[in-house]
Amino acid sequence: MRNSKIAGVGHYVPENIVTNKDLEKLMDTTDEWIRERTGIVERRYFQEGVDTTSNMGANAGRNALKMANLEPSDLDMIVFATLSPDYVFPGSGVLLQRELGIKEIPALDVRNQCSGFVYALSVADQFIKTGMYNNVLVVGSEIHSSGLDFSTRGRGVSVIFGDGAGAVVLTPSESNERGILSTHLHSDGEFAEELATIDPGSNKKERLTHQMIDEGTIYPYMNGNMVFKHAVTRFPEVIEEALQKNGYQASDIDMLIPHQANLRITSYIQQKMGLPTEKVMSNIHKYGNTTAASVPLALSEAVEEGRIKEGDLVCLAAFGSGFTWASALIRW
Ligand code: UT7
Repeated sequence: MRNSKIAGVGHYVPENIVTNKDLEKLMDTTDEWIRERTGIVERRYFQEGVDTTSNMGANAGRNALKMANLEPSDLDMIVFATLSPDYVFPGSGVLLQRELGIKEIPALDVRNQCSGFVYALSVADQFIKTGMYNNVLVVGSEIHSSGLDFSTRGRGVSVIFGDGAGAVVLTPSESNERGILSTHLHSDGEFAEELATIDPGSNKKERLTHQMIDEGTIYPYMNGNMVFKHAVTRFPEVIEEALQKNGYQASDIDMLIPHQANLRITSYIQQKMGLPTEKVMSNIHKYGNTTAASVPLALSEAVEEGRIKEGDLVCLAAFGSGFTWASALIRW
């Protein structure tokens, strides 16, 4: 078995910046509340006719390929994580494949919300480990802004989410001491409806009704307090699991890239793990929560800012809807 490594990472965000002040005009909220409770200052919203979940993913993918010195034609597989696909079906993976002009390689969509990217990374890692594929593009991309309730009813959720994309290119590592050391995936369906968009689902005879629109069940629902409590338990747990598996301690981590759910959650994890601020990546103030895009977007910016060096121990961790949670430990 061989390890895989991240040979390239990239991101793309829409140009349109939406501040907390902009949201004040749409619903009963304040810049102060959003900053204090979440750490978010602004987020990006897509432009209709310009940005799509798949083409934002393709843009992030092109940047990752460039860093890896590879062409789209070098790819053997696409793994695309999103909860906001362009269409109900087919998935966004095939649309990205078309956008990049690479025919006939497999394109797999992964639906694990905030943990989606780490799940997708783990899937790609297995294909490389077994020797089945060499170069795999792993993408997380989301457009939330077209699916949020911008009335006061939806404020507990709508102020949090933003649009964006991130991607990595995974290739075989030259050594088993380097690259992705291990990945750890978990879920607990007991809490499926605590963070979910229920409609339009296939379990109702009429999939989309005016009642669903009026009652707002077509919008994401989150039991914020409950999700928060589970998040602050599961994040440290799954990070510890990755460290233990490889014989490391928290103090060995050079950079922790947590899913950007809430600055208070990130600060809690940082404290719990005893890590200094500079070893924990945070860009939630600029982008909000971009679910499957959040980890690769944060990783890409950390690399761009020169905060990850060769040989560093990097830990990715995520928690979200499902509930699902996951981590990956990487020797960069
Ligand atoms: O990414 C997947 C995982 N997601 C998460 O991990 C998110 C976890 N949860 C959270 O981040 C937080 O629970 C939230 C940011 C969603 C909410 O923060 P909170 O401190 O838990 O606030 P809350 O829901 O307890 O609401 C406190 C008050 C309520 O008013 P009352 O009942 O005290 O009068 C809400 O109605 O704040 C009110 N509120 C708002 N006020 C102004 C809720 N949303 C807003 C808003 N603006 N946008």
